[in-house]
Amino acid sequence: MTSEQTPGRATALALGAARAPGEAVIRFEQARKEYPDGTVAVHELDLEVQEHELLVLVGASGCGKSTTLRMVNRLVEATSGRVLVEGRDVATVDPVALRRRIGYVIQDVGLFPHRTVGQNVATVPELLGWDRGRTRSRVGDLLELVGLDPATYTGRYPHQLSGGERQRVGVARALAADPPVLLMDEPFGAVDPSGRRRLQQEFWRIQRELGTTVMFVTHDVDEAVRLGDRIAVFRRGGHLEQVSDAVTLLARPRTSTVAELVGTGSTVRLLSIGELTADDVAAVPPRPAAPSGRPAGSEPAAGTVAVGDRLDVVLQALAAAPDGVPVTEGGAVVGHLTADGLLRAVRRTVASAQG
Ligand SMILES: Nc1ncnc2c1ncn2[C@@H]1O[C@H](COP(=O)(O)OP(=O)(O)OP(=O)(O)O)[C@@H](O)[C@H]1O
Ligand SMILES: [Mg+2]
Repeated sequence: MTSEQTPGRATALALGAARAPGEAVIRFEQARKEYPDGTVAVHELDLEVQEHELLVLVGASGCGKSTTLRMVNRLVEATSGRVLVEGRDVATVDPVALRRRIGYVIQDVGLFPHRTVGQNVATVPELLGWDRGRTRSRVGDLLELVGLDPATYTGRYPHQLSGGERQRVGVARALAADPPVLLMDEPFGAVDPSGRRRLQQEFWRIQRELGTTVMFVTHDVDEAVRLGDRIAVFRRGGHLEQVSDAVTLLARPRTSTVAELVGTGSTVRLLSIGELTADDVAAVPPRPAAPSGRPAGSEPAAGTVAVGDRLDVVLQALAAAPDGVPVTEGGAVVGHLTADGLLRAVRRTVASAQG
């Protein structure tokens, strides 16, 4: 057993060590995928995912999201260009070693039908040669993390679960060995809307806690806004239209494809419901005195927003002032709002409107 584990672990270590500090964890360099029948699924893609980042890919059906994701773990090989994971061209890495460092969750989870929930979640720890005690306690922790009581679920088989429960097991299995990179392809697609929101919330918390670098595919703009540090919008033919944080995407869609996509979601409508609170402002660290900075307490000026303003108004003000705007309360300037603060307000609004 040991002789089988050592080479894999050594490769995995070498993989992790190849990335220079500050370098992206996943990097597409002019990566193209053309299927044998001539379909161009991904067109000369340049894209980076930073360490600890949750990047969401969104776009219409057939625009190349799954293909993009599958190039990372070599389920699909790039036709030209390169995909680097932790600084190394994946084409040069043993696919088995690669996949041990990359969790993968798909909509149709792909649990092993003849293995129990516990055995499914234990798959990668077993491959890595963890001892039984460590594996068992990890499985219990993860089932609790995804909201499945270990006492009830560990011994069940996949056919004894609901679709949403199977997806939770899929997430737990992918996280089991604490992989530095996680690929998720519509992982919550089979869950009912309220279960889905709960899962999104739990997953977001888990991702923050573990610091996993994630590429996440969805059709759902609200899910993208709720989860993504950045959102990459694709157009048919595998063209990357825009990649930015949610607020920039909503405020300044760069193309008509992006505008249509965000316009048809409910997120924009939710902006007209949400209000700016003092917390959104207070959460922003005070800006150092800069020529353009206005000290707190000074006279409000044009281009300011107020606590209690509707978020669509705030978004408009921010769109015109990308560095941020002063915030007033009772007529006095009480702070400074940046895109980050608005993003927090949007997330809170989306969460309270839907949850
Ligand atoms: N094995 C294949 N052979 C030929 N064409 C393929 C193959 N797999 C995918 N495609 C095509 O490549 C394009 C991109 O497919 P992909 O699965 O990446 O899209 P997607 O954005 O994930 O779509 P969806 O949202 O429906 O899952 C589509 O036009 C699809 O028909
Ligand atoms: Mg897909």
